[in-house]
Amino acid sequence: MAKEMTRLAVIGSGIMGNGIAQIGAFGGYATRLQDISSEALAKARKTIEANLRKGIERGKYEEADMRRALGNLSYTTDLREAVGDADVVIEAVTENLELKRALFARLDELCPPRTLLATNTSALSITAIAAATKRPAQVIGMHFFNPPHIMRLIEIVRGLETSDESLRLAEEVSRRMGKETVAVNDKAGFITSRINAAIGNEAFRMLEEGVASARDIDKAVRLGLNFPMGPFELVDLVGLDTRLNALEFMHQHLGERYRPTPIHRTYVAAGRLGRKSGKGFFEYDANGNIIGE
Ligand SMILES: NC(=O)c1ccc[n+]([C@@H]2O[C@H](COP(=O)([O-])OP(=O)(O)OC[C@H]3O[C@@H](n4cnc5c(N)ncnc54)[C@H](O)[C@@H]3O)[C@@H](O)[C@H]2O)c1
Repeated sequence: MAKEMTRLAVIGSGIMGNGIAQIGAFGGYATRLQDISSEALAKARKTIEANLRKGIERGKYEEADMRRALGNLSYTTDLREAVGDADVVIEAVTENLELKRALFARLDELCPPRTLLATNTSALSITAIAAATKRPAQVIGMHFFNPPHIMRLIEIVRGLETSDESLRLAEEVSRRMGKETVAVNDKAGFITSRINAAIGNEAFRMLEEGVASARDIDKAVRLGLNFPMGPFELVDLVGLDTRLNALEFMHQHLGERYRPTPIHRTYVAAGRLGRKSGKGFFEYDANGNIIGE
């Protein structure tokens, strides 16, 4: 029988990486969170502590569970230290195919032969990322949702060469993190990003056409269609840069309906990236509330 996996490394400690590390540590993995930016790591540590604390306040678990999770976590900027003895690595760096391919080539050199290499890409090709390594059978997509400690799904994406055993291992990791899974083949945008980007892009076009304000489009989608969030609130949460990178890839592979809108490009060029930069379609105060709501 295969040896149990106990060590997890999460690469990239931004919006997604910190949440993935939190649920990994909570699920009992000795978890190392790595980022090239020590500021990003410091921010991630604060976010994880605050989110774990909120879970206690909401009665989801006890103080001792939080302490155990925190005891399982460590932070480093050193990639070798992070992955040198990892059983599973989950990559959550910036959505850029060349960056991810270069990182996976490096992970392949630094990790033990047994290590499963997963990417949290929202849309990019698992097959192309896997091809940067000499172990494509052990590369898989694990697409988490924002915020990872709340959202219940992980899309598991098989590249062309991904083995059945890797799929089984990714499902096991997901279960230990308390998540449900769906298995998807490697087509740009998988299930959820493809649907989400189509809705988001249509909302951007409607804004450009002057159909209604961003606030009213969001309100209509929330109250009239019963979505939990409107498309502009949601893209502000995701990050306009991250969505743009994913859309560009989907446009290239799925055609015209995914062409990013000029307004989207303009906002990214202006640095209006959403919640993470304090301003996207809406403006946010220090507590993350929309100003003027
Ligand atoms: N934001 C979302 O809602 C969401 C949802 C699901 C999946 N994703 C995917 O997760 C990944 C990360 O997205 P995010 O929103 O967390 O991005 P982010 O911009 O919040 O964070 C990215 C982090 O990666 C770090 N980084 C960049 N290059 C690195 C490298 N070579 N080594 C280590 N760290 C590096 C950056 O310093 C930054 O802290 C992307 O692939 C994205 O598509 C995002």
